[in-house]
Amino acid sequence: MVRVMEADHQHTVEPGSLAGPAGRPGPATANRLGSVDYDAELRLHNEVLRRACGIRRHDHVLDVGCGTGQTTREAARMATAGSALGVDLSAQMIDRAREIAQAEGLRNVTFERADAQVHRFPPKHFDLTISRFGTMFFDDPVAAFANIGRALRPAGRLVMLVWQDHERNEWDVAIHRSLEGFGDAVAVAPEGQNPFSLANPTTVEGILDAAGWVDVTFTDVHEPVYYGPDVAAALDWVRGFTCTNDVLKRLDPLAADRALERLRETLAAHARRDGIWFDSRAWIVTARRRRTGHGSSASSCTSQT
Ligand SMILES: C[S@@+](CC[C@H](N)C(=O)[O-])C[C@H]1O[C@@H](n2cnc3c(N)ncnc32)[C@H](O)[C@@H]1O
Repeated sequence: MVRVMEADHQHTVEPGSLAGPAGRPGPATANRLGSVDYDAELRLHNEVLRRACGIRRHDHVLDVGCGTGQTTREAARMATAGSALGVDLSAQMIDRAREIAQAEGLRNVTFERADAQVHRFPPKHFDLTISRFGTMFFDDPVAAFANIGRALRPAGRLVMLVWQDHERNEWDVAIHRSLEGFGDAVAVAPEGQNPFSLANPTTVEGILDAAGWVDVTFTDVHEPVYYGPDVAAALDWVRGFTCTNDVLKRLDPLAADRALERLRETLAAHARRDGIWFDSRAWIVTARRRRTGHGSSASSCTSQT
């Protein structure tokens, strides 16, 4: 049985910090200065994730696919007598994450460039693994979650944010629609690059069960994503997404202009007084590392209020 729970809404966003992970914006646009970035885009999601993580003072936290490390730094700030390690495939992200952590004077946070699927983490070391949209891209999810599990103490916890289906994510539907008709425009994501690969609770439950996790829960997170204070900033942000950029660079200049105009209209249609917003749906997935032996246990889903 799959349990779904509810989480809460809050609607304040302060765009402005630095970020821009792969999987959404491509590395070429990552970490630039601008009026919006990935941390700003996900501000509301981040608040939900922070509450779900419930990090304690002595916790040792592993942040998988940490990007430029906002969630890792926040974990380190909460685990004042513990530590936080952020790992990411991208050397560029890790360099930036280190720079920011150093500038902020954080001493209990470290970052490593690593493939979380195969990296040799210290065994049974961490109390908690967290991830903000960094776990959907494994080639072999069962191997990856098993590897991560081995790094956790018995009964250690997993708390991760993953997208629900494409159809439930207005941002993705709208971008795809805007680019429809422009050649083979919206390419199918290459294998291992599908941001919606953990959208299905039954699939995720199966993966986690096979990887040695129990007590799997799914909390429906219904928060909008923020694309910037105005259409120009939002267009600048969205054209840096890998999926958008891949299409634009294959078009001749005239067609690219038309595609951008279509995107601009879509963004304008989502303008509010406080900026450009798109609806989105995600899951907070939680689980515990199985203590001994095997055997599945019930999972659950709830949703936000
Ligand atoms: C959508 S981004 C999220 C980044 C970060 N968690 C954040 O919220 O800012 C996904 C990140 O996962 C990383 N990633 C993908 N596969 C990975 C793997 N096997 N091991 C470590 N990191 C991975 C990517 O490099 C990318 O930075």
